[in-house]
This record gives sequence, structure tokens and C-alpha cells, in this order.
Amino acid sequence: MDRNLALEVVRVTEAAALASARLMGRGDRDGADRAAVEAMRRVFDNVDVRGEVVIGEGERDRAPMLYVGEKVGRGVEGDVEVEIAVDALEGSNLCATGAPNAISVIAIGEKGRLLRAPDGYMEKIAVGPAAKGAIDLRRSPTENLERIADALGKYLEDLTVVILDRRRNDALVKEVRAAGARIKLIGDGDVSGALNTCFPESGVDVLMGTGGAREGVIAAAALRCVGGDMQGRLQLRDDGERERAARTGLRDLDKVLSIDALAGGSVMFAATGVTNGDFLRGVRFTGDGARTHSVVMRSKSGSIRYIETIHKFSRAPDYEH
Ligand code: FBP
Repeated sequence: MDRNLALEVVRVTEAAALASARLMGRGDRDGADRAAVEAMRRVFDNVDVRGEVVIGEGERDRAPMLYVGEKVGRGVEGDVEVEIAVDALEGSNLCATGAPNAISVIAIGEKGRLLRAPDGYMEKIAVGPAAKGAIDLRRSPTENLERIADALGKYLEDLTVVILDRRRNDALVKEVRAAGARIKLIGDGDVSGALNTCFPESGVDVLMGTGGAREGVIAAAALRCVGGDMQGRLQLRDDGERERAARTGLRDLDKVLSIDALAGGSVMFAATGVTNGDFLRGVRFTGDGARTHSVVMRSKSGSIRYIETIHKFSRAPDYEH
């Protein structure tokens, strides 16, 4: 994956973060999401990439832009074609309430290598590089915690597990508590939760539980860049969801998917903080502009770049407003 593209692509998440951050705390999650999507879409027209959205705002008939199948970027015939997975505002509730960890994210993969995950849910487990190979969704949560604790050389009681605070994760929370591990329940934002497992300073060791399927693919791309590990299993609730999932090309819909099945080949990931978070600062508005904090990572080189950008609104090109 081209290293210049990595620096180009961060402009896309910066634009989405700037647009949605303006609506922080306004209680309008849909408005914040719309602002992020529109800004992201505008900037794509000025990025030298020939991409197809495989994870975006939904199917074409329901989403006016960044829909699945939409071609984005100003790349031309002959340029390498890539697949794009985006969440212009991951954690729209977090932004609407000014809570931590709302981010704007993009993952870019080689053609055919990002899972075209359907709407709906996925059971997930994610860990950082030190526990790579220790996870297996076919085992119980307790067994997984024992294996992760062994790999990290920690007491199980000292592990911190991030779990989305949802009724569907209640049984998991109960089992993790019975096993003795510590839990950080999050209201939203399990892409950040998964990514945090790769950064020891976040204090998070593992992400477990069921969250969005599309967020699962984006998180897998991010973890591939850092050398972490992840597995997912689609949680399909009815025939409609099974039918849509079958269109992704997966033969066994109940299979445990490895990190490579979720996001294989060479991948790139970029995120910009919208609200302050565990590893990215949120947008800070200054008199005549704003500062953003982003991370850009590539699986090929394993490079992780943090980018602090000073934006001057008086000088930015029109499409970035
Ligand atoms: P949005 O950005 O669409 O608000 O998603 C936030 C999120 O919390 C994800 O991080 C998570 O994977 C998903 O929603 C969980 O879905 P639900 O809120 O339906 O449980």
C-alpha cells in the first residue's frame, strides 16, 4: 500500500472530524454523523485514490453518499484500485454528548481483501501484539482470559476487559466478573476499544463482546497494522440478515473469522479524534482554525504516525469547509 496515500488519506478523516466536532454536545447524533459523512465525501474527490466503498453508510438505496459500491477518489485508469471501509463518525452518541473516544476512521485494503460485512452485529475478541495467537472465539470467555493472562505474564485478576455496555453482552459481563478480571464498560465506540488493546498506556488488555459487524472489519484493519490479533463471528438475527450476509460471499456465515479473513493483505488505517480519547485528542478550535490529532498506520511497514495538524480556515480550500 502506497506510503504517500497514507498521508493523503488522513485529510479525509481530519475533514470529517472537524465537521462533526462543531456539533459536539448538541444532542444531535444524526446531524453530527451527516456533517462528518458530507465532509468526508467532499474531500475524497481531491484524494489521489481509485477506491470503492465496501463498508460505509449502508446500501445505495438508503445512503446518499459513501454507500457500499460507491467509487471514490480522483484516481484514474491505471492507478491501483483499493477497497475502502469508512466510519465518518464512529461513536455518534459520544460526539452528541461530548463523551470521550468519538473518532473518524478509514481503512484501505487491497481489492477483495476487506470483508464486505453486512449491517448487523459481530461477536468480537481483540488483543494487542503481546497476546497474538492466544485468542479463540470457540473457547469460553474464561478460557480466553486465562490464555491472554498467560501470554501477557499477568494475573487474570489484573486484566482489563473492554465490553460494550449492551443487554446482549450481559452474560459475558457476568462470566468475566466471575472469572475475576476487571471490566471497562463503554457506551459506544468499540473500534477505539479494540485499538486500545495495542497501546499498553491505555491500560486495556482485551476487547470482548458483540458490537457492530462493520466496525469489526475496520478494527481488524487497524489491528493488522499494529500487529494485534482479532477474531469475529457474525451474529445474524433473522433471515433478512442471513440473506444479506450471504451476499458478502461468505460460505459459512457462522464461522469464526480470523483477523486476515476480516481484513487481509496490505492495509492502511487512519483515524482522527473528534472528542478527546484514550489515544487521540479531540478537535480543538482556535480563533481562526483548529487543531486535529490523527494516527496513520500501514501493515506493510508497521509504521505508526501521529499527526498533529494546524488548520487555518481562512486558507483552506473550499472543499474542506
Ligand atoms: P455509531 O458510530 O454508528 O454510533 O456506532 C457506535 C457503536 O457503539 C460502535 O462502536 C459499535 O460497534 C456499535 O455502535 C454497536 O451497535 P449498537 O449501538 O446497535 O449496539
